[in-house]
Amino acid sequence: MFCLGKIKRILAREVLDSRGNPTVQVDVFSDSGFGRATAPSGASTGRHEAVELRDGGKRFLGRGVSKAVKNVNEIIAKALIGMEVCDQRAIDDVLCKLDGTPGKSRLGANATTAVSLAVAHCSASEKGVGLHKLLGKALLPAPMMNLLNGGKHAANGLAVQEFMVFPLFFPSFSSALRAGAEIYHSLASMILKKYGKGSTALGDEGGFAPQCKRTEEALALLESAIEECGYSKKVKLAIDAAASSFYDKKSRRYLIDGQQLSAQGLSDFYLDLVKSYPIASLEDPFEEESFEEFAFLKRRLAGKVQLVGDDLLVTNPARIRQAISKGSCSALLLKVNQIGTLSEALEAARLCQGSGMGVIVSHRSGESEDSSIADIAVGIGCGQIKAGAPARGERTAKYNRLLQIEEELPDGSFAKGSGLKF
Ligand code: PGA
Ligand code: ZN
Repeated sequence: MFCLGKIKRILAREVLDSRGNPTVQVDVFSDSGFGRATAPSGASTGRHEAVELRDGGKRFLGRGVSKAVKNVNEIIAKALIGMEVCDQRAIDDVLCKLDGTPGKSRLGANATTAVSLAVAHCSASEKGVGLHKLLGKALLPAPMMNLLNGGKHAANGLAVQEFMVFPLFFPSFSSALRAGAEIYHSLASMILKKYGKGSTALGDEGGFAPQCKRTEEALALLESAIEECGYSKKVKLAIDAAASSFYDKKSRRYLIDGQQLSAQGLSDFYLDLVKSYPIASLEDPFEEESFEEFAFLKRRLAGKVQLVGDDLLVTNPARIRQAISKGSCSALLLKVNQIGTLSEALEAARLCQGSGMGVIVSHRSGESEDSSIADIAVGIGCGQIKAGAPARGERTAKYNRLLQIEEELPDGSFAKGSGLKF
């Protein structure tokens, strides 16, 4: 795929994300291409993530991104115009150098992420293909679909942030997606029956947020919905505990289900859960500095459950290397805006894939109609994606994009469980 198109124009604007907060959208124009991308935004962000630049002050209650937009239009555009749009690595290097800080705090990782992804889309457009085609592989990922929300994404009593269904054993991505959607609707009826009117309100990622009190109550609900749809053998469960959000630093205890647990106690808690429920994947079981505790639990899970690092690893090659040397994780949750450019995120993915770790490409709780993560998941061939409930436009944008890509790929391109790493 030959491409010599040069960047002609870059234009950033402030748009709204799925939570009604401003975010950065960028258009990139080249000789014969066009690309657009929008930066997502987290709520339960890791301490070591790249910095999202917000204006402060009164506008949008301090959450405006006009400075980040200005950084794109004035500083970044000047540096990138005239560069070959298909030279992603060189462009991302310029973004890193121009920023000059370890956490992209000068230009804002929201600015650099939107530019980097828009450049990738523009480069694909120059070549007349979808973005996934630029990345080398062609595997449709199994979707982790967040059907019950807790933690920082919901206003209920659940400490654990995400309760996901994970349809693995289906012949195609579309049949897996269909199972997820059917379970979602069965779950809605069950929640309405059990918790009454008003209980089917949604959390940030499109999943329900009923007033469940305990972790097991949520898991049992999901299990019944799966059973009612007749998918018990084919659909597993996945959890993102996002444990930093229920960790009390002072007492060094985890506050969950009315208990105050040490890391050891919390380990036992998870081991009991995986004995009782068909959990295939467990993310951020401990707070974000717990490399040793992750490694301890990984050993105790003994190759039966995937142990995923999100806030622990923040898509950062240096932290991933640390996790590899300590045996902390079996998979990385990959979020481009945690590091700030596509090339750095791809480097993180390569590092994991090269050392036998899995990768799950992920959305954020604050999202938009941007569906880049669908293309990235297919193109790096990681076999797993986390994109929320099969409902609400900003979530379905990703799943619907995967349906489009499915049409381009031969039968048998669905990963099933092959992406899972223990
Ligand atoms: P966030 O949550 O986007 O709010 O950080 C997603 C996650 O923790 O995986
Ligand atoms: Zn997470």
